[in-house]
Amino acid sequence: MDARQLSPLDRLLEVANDALRTGFARLPARRPPPESAARDLPAAGPRRREAARLMRVNHAGEVAAQGLYSGHALTARTPGTRDLLHRAAAEEADHLAWCRERLAELGSRSSLLDPVWYGASFMIGALAGLAGDPVGLGFVAETERQVEGHLDRHLVALPAADRRSRAIVASMKADEIAHAEAARRAGAIPLPRPAVMLMGLCARIMTGTARWI
Ligand SMILES: [Fe+2]
Ligand SMILES: [Fe+2]
Repeated sequence: MDARQLSPLDRLLEVANDALRTGFARLPARRPPPESAARDLPAAGPRRREAARLMRVNHAGEVAAQGLYSGHALTARTPGTRDLLHRAAAEEADHLAWCRERLAELGSRSSLLDPVWYGASFMIGALAGLAGDPVGLGFVAETERQVEGHLDRHLVALPAADRRSRAIVASMKADEIAHAEAARRAGAIPLPRPAVMLMGLCARIMTGTARWI
């Protein structure tokens, strides 16, 4: 789809479309949420509130993923890389919808700072793309690797009774692993250690804040 030549105006419209879709469209997921039949809820109280905090963090992470992929697609050098980014972003949009739906079921809300997570991530994604496709893809692979670790920690932290949130997180993790592998196959190079550490720090700031705000 993206093999065509996009004019600067096309690119800007695409960026605006990405932002509006993430912020306002509330589109349903293309794939049904995992275990959609199991509408189980942890009993109201501290466990349910903790599950909601964790799923709010995951929702914020998926908002950030939309920003990262949109910014990166804007500056990626080749149609092949843009295509890879668009395919991953479409799966991330499912994650966003699953998390949004689950947050509502848990009786909670998304992060008030979602526009900040999106905007900051968009800029980081655009910068990653400007560094050239091998580095940009390296950024995707490292991001997804860190997200995989984060989701692993959530699989430990989520209440055992919350099977539905756990199923969603496990499905997201499988997709994130595939995104990292696709980026590696497409020519990702490893990032320098300071960059990896900085990415981890940014992620910790976001996850620590979105838990509460
Ligand atoms: Fe995701
Ligand atoms: Fe991903």
